[in-house]
Amino acid sequence: MVEAGRLIKRIQEMREEGYLSDAILRATVKDIRASDPKYDWVGVYLFNPDENILWLHNYVGPSTEHARIPVGQGVCGTAVAERKNQNVPDVTKVSNYLACSPRTKSELVVLIRAGDEIFGQIDIDSNTPDAFTKDEQESIELVAEKLAEVFMAERR
Ligand code: SME
Repeated sequence: MVEAGRLIKRIQEMREEGYLSDAILRATVKDIRASDPKYDWVGVYLFNPDENILWLHNYVGPSTEHARIPVGQGVCGTAVAERKNQNVPDVTKVSNYLACSPRTKSELVVLIRAGDEIFGQIDIDSNTPDAFTKDEQESIELVAEKLAEVFMAERR
């Protein structure tokens, strides 16, 4: 399970050392992936509101055909359309699911947002069914909150 406190501390340290969001997002994806062997694919998508499209910023795991996802499509696009995090215990039950790997069984998508504004999302795929507990989701949500802070700070 992700230790949110440790990841948030590392994000804060990177900010203080002067790293931009690009480096912080890459480090965070690697940290999440390394924190639990059942996280088989971890990535960050960035949301472009003008195009209404999610673009894959970086990931760890097998390559995916879904580097660009229109809002409303798949678990990722649904999260933005509904403005709601998605914890899917069984991906075969999702009618508009976009398969990244045929081995994926469950998926967690947590939005990186500040109020109404959505910057992007953390996407985690697992080959284990029902891999994401409520506590795990909450930990990822805390990390996403910190990433939103990074985006806000960079804008100033
Ligand atoms: N499964 C996602 C697509 C992204 S891949 O998992 C990397 C979806 O349904 O939106």
